[in-house]
Amino acid sequence: MTRPRRARRCQLSVPGSSEKMLAKAAGSAADHVFCDLEDAVAPSAKVEARGKIINALNTLDWGKKTRCVRINDVSTQWCHDDIIEVVTGAGANLDTIMLTKPYSAADVIFLDRMLTQLEKKLGLEKSIGIEVLIEEVQALQNVEDISRSTPRLECLVFGMGDYSGSQGIDTRDIGGTGDFPGDIFHYARFRIAMAARAAGIDAVDGPYANFGNPEGYLSEAKRAKSLGMVGKWAIHPAQIALATEVFSPDPSEVAFARKLETAYREAEAQGLGAAQVDGVMVDVASLRLVRNTLDKAELYGL
Ligand code: COA
Ligand code: MG
Repeated sequence: MTRPRRARRCQLSVPGSSEKMLAKAAGSAADHVFCDLEDAVAPSAKVEARGKIINALNTLDWGKKTRCVRINDVSTQWCHDDIIEVVTGAGANLDTIMLTKPYSAADVIFLDRMLTQLEKKLGLEKSIGIEVLIEEVQALQNVEDISRSTPRLECLVFGMGDYSGSQGIDTRDIGGTGDFPGDIFHYARFRIAMAARAAGIDAVDGPYANFGNPEGYLSEAKRAKSLGMVGKWAIHPAQIALATEVFSPDPSEVAFARKLETAYREAEAQGLGAAQVDGVMVDVASLRLVRNTLDKAELYGL
């Protein structure tokens, strides 16, 4: 199974219980939308929300977006029916399922096996991918195993809200505003980004609740980007453009990367290992960094 490459600069969360917001999300500029059945939907509304999501997936124009459904975790009474109903109702119009609160690889394999059975039963031609939230302390301890749990897995998301609850983190320290001398999420983000890269999948940063504070959002998004994450969630339309901007290489960076690559190729053709462009050395190691930028430019059509 080869994993599809998908843009995930911005993953927009939309409550599955709101037909209005589902329609708004489908028409948004986000690369990826996940229709939520978990935290954004009250227990009394969860069963009905499945039908609303199925209808939205089957009838709305989602453009080129990745269409994802976020399901309840494996310890709940909803998880198995979330999978069966959503895949049965809209499996052909669904790209990925996002699993909440896994503790270990076994939880992800449960979803993987359910998908395999349903795809056979329903004769679905396209395989449905998996994304998982790392939002329990056990999940961070097991993140390497989780990242290699199934070839369906495409993305690890750092869910810092639930994660803070799981570890007992003092949320006043988030963003460097409390007593903690540094970035309280640095270790978690670093570890998740590292596990994702080792497994050849994406890492994405989770939500920023204060949607009226673009500076705070940008600062968190840039921290994630610096560590190799490829995107961040939006919980409100106001955050979509911010994420897309942070996680897109800017035009001057892309142009310089193209120049470096050309210079290296020319040097290589002459039997040289290194060249210089505008006073900057380029060798085979810098080519890797350049490729990271150019791969993104290709994926995002820049
Ligand atoms: N997806 C799609 N549309 C959204 C949206 C979202 N996540 N959040 C807000 N909108 C829409 C609103 O419906 C509104 O539409 P309108 O202009 O046509 O009336 C517009 O964007 C502006 O919204 P606003 O009035 O500023 O906010 P609100 O009070 O309607 O909603 C929240 C605020 C927080 C309730 C809402 O943003 C939300 O539910 N976010 C998602 C929460 C979530 O998914 N949590 C779980 C993951 S952490
Ligand atoms: Mg949560």
